[in-house]
Amino acid sequence: MALLQRYRDSQRINHWIVVLLFLCAGLSGLAFFHPSLFFLTNLFGGGPWTRVLHPYMGLGMVLAFFFLALKMWRDNLWTSVDSTWMRQSPGMISGAHKEGVQPAHKYNAGQKIVFWVMVVSLLILLVTGFMFWHAWFPEGNILMRRIAVVLHSASAAILILTIIIHVYAAIWVKGSFRAMTRGTVTDTWAAHHHPLWHKEMKERPRA
Ligand code: HEM
Repeated sequence: MALLQRYRDSQRINHWIVVLLFLCAGLSGLAFFHPSLFFLTNLFGGGPWTRVLHPYMGLGMVLAFFFLALKMWRDNLWTSVDSTWMRQSPGMISGAHKEGVQPAHKYNAGQKIVFWVMVVSLLILLVTGFMFWHAWFPEGNILMRRIAVVLHSASAAILILTIIIHVYAAIWVKGSFRAMTRGTVTDTWAAHHHPLWHKEMKERPRA
């Protein structure tokens, strides 16, 4: 079975660190979202500890994502191929489009949208989080803090929904998961889902 390298070890480790911190920051954040979810604080040593740890885990997640995004943003820039992909996507998803998957470079238009939603929602979480991090920033305008809390919750909800889509897509497109577990994908997978990237990889001189 011919294989193509999609991610280096460092990128995969970076990705799974982001996942771990996302789960920690997400679950501890949900604990404060509604009283019915307060039981989640048991995972972090009770209410006060969850309150202390949540901002650090969130900050860690944003920092780890920043390093991942530094390596990936170029491959997520929008091209004319992506606009075509978007136009064809309803037919592709419903199965009506008989020609199958549309051309894509390393990432398709759907993945690119997910990437930029992650970037924007994490930036909003970071900025608004600082605005009501009482341990370090006790002063501040109460109205600004209230607005920050609402924006923080809204972007957390958007990020969680986006990650659910991201994970669903990773499972739905068979053969994608191994890209992040082993770093490689099959030649057939690449030719089918990312034909332009596949072509680039084949034309690239071997190191
Ligand atoms: C259990 C949760 C997760 C699973 C199973 C998962 C799985 C995957 C897989 C299989 C890929 C490779 C897709 C491909 O190369 O075509 C990938 C890529 C990626 N993942 Fe995740 N992921 C998870 C959570 C996250 C989280 C929480 C973030 C960030 C907040 C994230 C950010 C990314 C990014 C930026 C890429 C590169 C794709 C791109 O830049 O568009 N992932 N993930």
